[in-house]
Order: sequence, then C-alpha cells, then structure tokens
Amino acid sequence: MSNRTFTMIKPDAVRNGHIGNILQMINAAGFKIIALKYTQLSTPQAEKFYEVHSERGFFGELTQFMSSGPIVAAILEKENAVADFRTLIGATDPAKADEGTIRKAYATSIGENAVHGSDSDENAAIEGNFFFSGLERF
Ligand code: CMP
Repeated sequence: MSNRTFTMIKPDAVRNGHIGNILQMINAAGFKIIALKYTQLSTPQAEKFYEVHSERGFFGELTQFMSSGPIVAAILEKENAVADFRTLIGATDPAKADEGTIRKAYATSIGENAVHGSDSDENAAIEGNFFFSGLERF
C-alpha cells in the first residue's frame, strides 16, 4: 500500500469554476498536496495518458474531452491514498456516486466526471511521473 495518488481536475470542472471547491474537499479529507500544476493536454498527450483505454469505444471521446481545456494535475499524499481518494471522488458514473463525493457534487456525466483518480499504486506512480519531475514535488 502506497501513500500517494494522482488526480486531475478535468476540463468540465475547470470550465464550471469548481477548482477551488474541489481542492477544498481534497484538503478537508486529509490529503496533502505534494505537486500541483495548471496545464492543458494536447490530444496526443491525452492519448498517451489514457493509452490503457485505447481499445475502448469511448477512447476518442475521452481524449478529445481531456484535451478540450485546461486541467489541474496533482500528486496527493495520505495513508491508503489510492483507495481513500477513490472513495472521496465516488463512482465513475455520477448517477451512481454517493452523497458527499466530488463526482456527486460536480460531475455531469460518465465522460465529463469532474475528476480523475488513480486506480492502483502502480498507476499512481506512472501518472504522477507523466506530469511531474522530482523538482516539482514538495
Ligand atoms: P477516469 O477515471 O479519468 O479514467 C477513464 C475515464 O474514461 C473515466 O474517468 C471516464 O471519464 C471515462 N469513461 C469511462 N466510461 C466511459 C463511457 N462509457 N463513455 C465516456 N467516457 C467514459
């Protein structure tokens, strides 16, 4: 069990003005921000980030959406970070997300679902390394 996970605040939540509220929920749940970046993915970068989903029918929609505007990327630290963060963000489909979760509050659909959270310790490390150098972590 690792104590770090990786997140993005997705273009829908950024466009809708929810960066501050989502960072507040992340802090209130006990996560420490280790690295933070406001940036925009190109479509090829989004295709690389999500390459594990390249055979899925929604891959084009996903990568177009994720490169459609700026995102906030972050590495977060907490005991049991990956599992606890997935609890905080709620189900991928906001219609199935529990009350009190970030997706229940801010996601609009399964594709435009406000936040990303790593699904394993291994992917948390890969995804964090995609966005951040060692000099950008504190
Ligand atoms: P995320 O956790 O960022 O990782 C993969 C993403 O694929 C997921 O969030 C969803 O936003 C997206 N996704 C999953 N299923 C669908 C779907 N049926 N249609 C569109 N996007 C999807």
